Amino acid sequence: MKTFTLDQLSSINDGEEKPARFAVIGKPVGHSLSPELHQPALDELGEEARYVRIEVEPGNVGPALDQLYRAGLRGINVTVPHKLEALESCDVVDPPAAVMGAVNTIVYGPEGHKTGFNTDGPGLARAIREEFAVDLGDLKVILIGAGGGAGRAIATQCLIENCTQLILVNRTREKLVAMKEKLAPLIHRDDLEGPRDWLEIMALDDPALEEALQASDLIINTTSVGLKATDPAPFPTRWIEPHHLVYDTIYNPARTRLLREAQAQGARIANGLSLLIHQGALSLEYWLNKDVPLHRMRDGVENALKA
Ligand code: ATR
Repeated sequence: MKTFTLDQLSSINDGEEKPARFAVIGKPVGHSLSPELHQPALDELGEEARYVRIEVEPGNVGPALDQLYRAGLRGINVTVPHKLEALESCDVVDPPAAVMGAVNTIVYGPEGHKTGFNTDGPGLARAIREEFAVDLGDLKVILIGAGGGAGRAIATQCLIENCTQLILVNRTREKLVAMKEKLAPLIHRDDLEGPRDWLEIMALDDPALEEALQASDLIINTTSVGLKATDPAPFPTRWIEPHHLVYDTIYNPARTRLLREAQAQGARIANGLSLLIHQGALSLEYWLNKDVPLHRMRDGVENALKA
């Protein structure tokens, strides 16, 4: 599937059976699997709609979003590096997305009025339920790589779900200090007495990491460590125990070193494919206001990854 630029919008539907109605914007965006995820679902639902990739330059997201509406687009996904700029360009932002500091889904209203959402956090909550048959809210969570964009969205979601404990870990600890301040108002618990602070922050090389991992149920990796097949695990995997659930937000490669070694330690594991699917499904639900066929989205993206 082709990637378009804004200059090509006037001819975007030339020779096509269905008009472009949904798009992912980013820079670069050619690698995005969103069309492979969404198009099979749109087709299954009988929607007269195409899902396309559109490259947008940083600094031009607001005008681009208005241009896209005028060209007939009715829903937009936003990928790196535009998630903050998209947030700033929206007329209304869903409060959790504002805390996450990122919008990945835009819904157009009448006259191109833009409402921004973030489906990464809620998508993760659904993914955990699907993979491990437990609710995020019932788990002690440790998030490795909490200082990045995905980490911040997931940390916010953990607070929204009122999970039993949240430990944020990052190579650069300073990033977490500001984040903790921003997240603190979301904490709504009256049972803060216990062996650990309910919301803790920690450097990745803190000697207390081993003990923090042991005190957790769910380990989530949101670092980019593992994207390359030769990457190490982001922390020593000998600290993983059979009681752990280990979720790596990376899905390509399908099994990072972290997941392989976690499985060898007896833990239950899952990769980020379920997050990719559920965050996309939530976007589609916002746009179409109906249930979407998850199996078609899964098939679409699995086929694309095999190709
Ligand atoms: P973003 O998601 O905002 O694009 P990123 O640069 O892709 O951010 O990094 C995502 C996460 O991976 C961050 O938590 C980052 O840690 P820092 O905040 O310290 O940069 C983490 N990360 C990237 N490379 C890493 C490495 N080699 N070891 C540990 N953590 C790493």
